[in-house]
Amino acid sequence: MSKKIYGIGTGPGDKEFLTLKAVRVMQESAVIFGPNNKGQNMAVDTAKDFIEGKRLVLIDFPMGKVTEEDYKKAAEIIEREIPEGESGAFLTIGDPMVYSTFIYIIEQMEKSHKNVDIEIVPGIPSFIAAAAQSRQVITVKDDDFLLCDDFTEDKIKNVESVAILKTSKNKEYILDSLEKNGFEYKYVKHATLPTQEILTDKEEILKDKQYISLILGKKK
Ligand SMILES: C[S@@+](CC[C@H](N)C(=O)[O-])C[C@H]1O[C@@H](n2cnc3c(N)ncnc32)[C@H](O)[C@@H]1O
Repeated sequence: MSKKIYGIGTGPGDKEFLTLKAVRVMQESAVIFGPNNKGQNMAVDTAKDFIEGKRLVLIDFPMGKVTEEDYKKAAEIIEREIPEGESGAFLTIGDPMVYSTFIYIIEQMEKSHKNVDIEIVPGIPSFIAAAAQSRQVITVKDDDFLLCDDFTEDKIKNVESVAILKTSKNKEYILDSLEKNGFEYKYVKHATLPTQEILTDKEEILKDKQYISLILGKKK
């Protein structure tokens, strides 16, 4: 008998962007996991219609810097909570392999919980959904594309296209750098949700403080 954990990407927020596989795997799982964000979790909200009545375990991570010890504890909780011979589903927004907590948990599972099988079910990443919603081309032939969550100006010197996640902290620097380097930009907040907004006006973008937002840039 063994246990299995699925890392599931729930996509950008609208439940219609969940894959059929994600829905089936969640429904077959004995327990649903996600990081605890003050009792809330966007991925769990996206999936809520398909996981009614399932046991939900929200795992606490400290505010600020998360340490290896925290990921170890998360991996222990996952192993403990999945019943023998069954599976669990760890839900992440977008895709699990893009800037997600689950990446660090996998490392710990591979190291210390080898009896738990791991499988990833991809989801539509936020920047792909935002590109579709704002009709912003990501790449064309011969273009180079950069994805980053910790922007510095030097990173865009050799690309024609960029998607910057987690922009809430240093938006002014990002927008100034994009302008200086000849990029047009779009700010996409809550892509695919009813609260979605697409902004191109610099002042309006700077006023917004939403964490669930990103910037797409394209060289003019
Ligand atoms: C921890 S990262 C998770 C990335 C995610 N795994 C993905 O595939 O897109 C969190 C960041 O994703 C971006 N994000 C996630 N969902 C979004 C959405 N619906 N609209 C805009 N940005 C989103 C934001 O930049 C946010 O700060």
